[in-house]
Amino acid sequence: MKLFIDSADPKEIRELAASGLVDGVTTNPSLAAKSGLDYVELLGEICSFVSGSVSAEVLATDTKGMIAQGKRFSKIAPQITIKVPLTWDGLNACRALADDGLKVNVTLCFSPVQAMMAAKAGATYISPFLGRLDDIGEDGMALIREIRAIYDNYDFRTNILAASIRSVYHVRDSALAGADVATIPGKIFKQLLDHPLTDKGLKAFLADAEKAGVKISDA
Ligand code: E4P
Repeated sequence: MKLFIDSADPKEIRELAASGLVDGVTTNPSLAAKSGLDYVELLGEICSFVSGSVSAEVLATDTKGMIAQGKRFSKIAPQITIKVPLTWDGLNACRALADDGLKVNVTLCFSPVQAMMAAKAGATYISPFLGRLDDIGEDGMALIREIRAIYDNYDFRTNILAASIRSVYHVRDSALAGADVATIPGKIFKQLLDHPLTDKGLKAFLADAEKAGVKISDA
């Protein structure tokens, strides 16, 4: 499974990308607003050190406006993926942009039928929002499983990008359900390696080595 960072904070993304384990980035207007930076400049900065897909979300709500903004984004760097909302205008824009050879991430997906429609419109990625479904008492993970089944039934090549991730368990369950990508907030990305037995085990190994004077000599 590919791991993206869900963030518009270049400092945070840079720090995590240094691990070599970050396959891409997703941004959205709310995250961009928090950064306080010009959106186009911000995307340019992220693309200067992330070579994988970087999603840039349009602000227009009509097809023509979305296509124009998508094309503007695509000039920033080749790794830009244009993010459009799951509306009729969004899917019209998706089809036009995909026909032009551009990558499109269809966002704000909350049902398997919406995901099927996005795939038919040529989406490269579909973004089901797990956490927001869980927030209203629905089963976000069931959505991933249903989309996986539909895409596999008909050999749709659209990548399932699990979004609105709230915990390490969301990452685990998305992987088990066959999501192609999970986009993860920085705080949760850092928790992916956490396990108390790892910390305890390492402490014990080092204490034993120190007690016995175990050394690693230079070659
Ligand atoms: C996905 O691309 C979105 O940016 C994001 O995952 C939304 O997450 P939220 O529900 O935590 O805002």
